[in-house]
Amino acid sequence: MTHSPHQGRLIGVSLGPGDPGLITRRAWEVLHSGAHWAYPVRAARAESYALGITRLAGLTPPAEASALIFPMTHDIEKLSRHWLAAAQSLLPILERGRDVAFLVEGDASTYSTFGHLARTVTALAPTIEVETIAGVASFLAGAARTGVPLGDTDDTIAILPAGYGVATLDRLLEDFDTLVLLKVKPLLDEIIDWLEQRQLLEHALFIERAGSPEERVVRWLPTLRGEEVNYLSLLLLRHPHRQRPPLVRGCRPRRGAPTP
Ligand SMILES: C[S@@+](CC[C@H](N)C(=O)[O-])C[C@H]1O[C@@H](n2cnc3c(N)ncnc32)[C@H](O)[C@@H]1O
Repeated sequence: MTHSPHQGRLIGVSLGPGDPGLITRRAWEVLHSGAHWAYPVRAARAESYALGITRLAGLTPPAEASALIFPMTHDIEKLSRHWLAAAQSLLPILERGRDVAFLVEGDASTYSTFGHLARTVTALAPTIEVETIAGVASFLAGAARTGVPLGDTDDTIAILPAGYGVATLDRLLEDFDTLVLLKVKPLLDEIIDWLEQRQLLEHALFIERAGSPEERVVRWLPTLRGEEVNYLSLLLLRHPHRQRPPLVRGCRPRRGAPTP
């Protein structure tokens, strides 16, 4: 499908996790390009974290910018209705030839609404071109902030939503040196209990609103028990005693796998 030169492009503008210093030059350029701004909100008149990052960067959002509602729900039908409504509201702007800059907190390819929006837009209008600007994901900022290396040498790293539960985390510990847990809020107490049982408490870090002026780093997780933490919270866990398969010609074959 060829892109029509008369159509605007849909651009996923990653803004990093909150610190305006982590906005890339490419994102900054698009913010100043005259593109129409669109940003996600959880409900009508709710604050947008992504839009807030542009304010922290000293920008004044254009009055005509579109707030697109994406509710916090796991109801896929409800979500699909909102992705469709959002895409339909942007199509006339794109069809008129104006680029749309969709503001994203963190990185647009990492658990972002942008993917759903872009797929819905291109399903409705296959010739619309999509650009995704890479950005600093929350856990990268969190690792840098706390001085925790996500991976050294041939360490393995798993990034996942905490909702898979502690039984999954237990299994992952066999194969991964670092676990990055996103969306930890609903399971935090359960995870703290699990860390305690596995004697891993001192190897875990909690980071809330990384990169923003309200950033909080907690190095002893039991102090968080029973607390209602912010949705923008993650956990980094370094497993200090993982058993690795031996190196064979520079590779580490899976346990039980034939040697190369
Ligand atoms: C829907 S995902 C969005 C991820 C985002 N696109 C990114 O690149 O980091 C939301 C989850 O990412 C994590 N997260 C996003 N921004 C964060 C921040 N500033 N500080 C800590 N965690 C954050 C939290 O675990 C949150 O529940």
